[in-house]
Amino acid sequence: MAYSDKVIDHYENPRNVGSFDKNDPSVATGMVGAPACGDVMKLQLKVSDTGVIEDAKFKTYGCGSAIASSSLVTEWVKGKSLDEASSIKNTDIAQELALPPVKIHCSILAEDAIKAAIEDYKAKRK
Ligand code: FES
Ligand code: FES
Repeated sequence: MAYSDKVIDHYENPRNVGSFDKNDPSVATGMVGAPACGDVMKLQLKVSDTGVIEDAKFKTYGCGSAIASSSLVTEWVKGKSLDEASSIKNTDIAQELALPPVKIHCSILAEDAIKAAIEDYKAKRK
């Protein structure tokens, strides 16, 4: 199976790899796993007091499509509000990266990671 050029680009030059201190109150952490393959994705968002995502980082232990999906969403969420970020759909990711059907769950992992990070942020603020 051939990867699309965009997947290869993100895989070879992943954007925003790394992590923030999860104990920083402005940092939201989303950690999710794919039951289908055991891949794991950690997405972290740095959120301003006004609820805008200022920065994002990821670490993904998984396939090229999962790495590309998480790299792509770190670019997409920057500058967005949490509400805007939560509306990013796996179908948008799959379309942008031209993922084949067997790799759709990799993009679902990225959508789930955004949602998990937002939940973490809300839980921290309570
Ligand atoms: Fe092998 Fe995802 S199934 S890395
Ligand atoms: Fe499982 Fe990509 S996340 S194959």
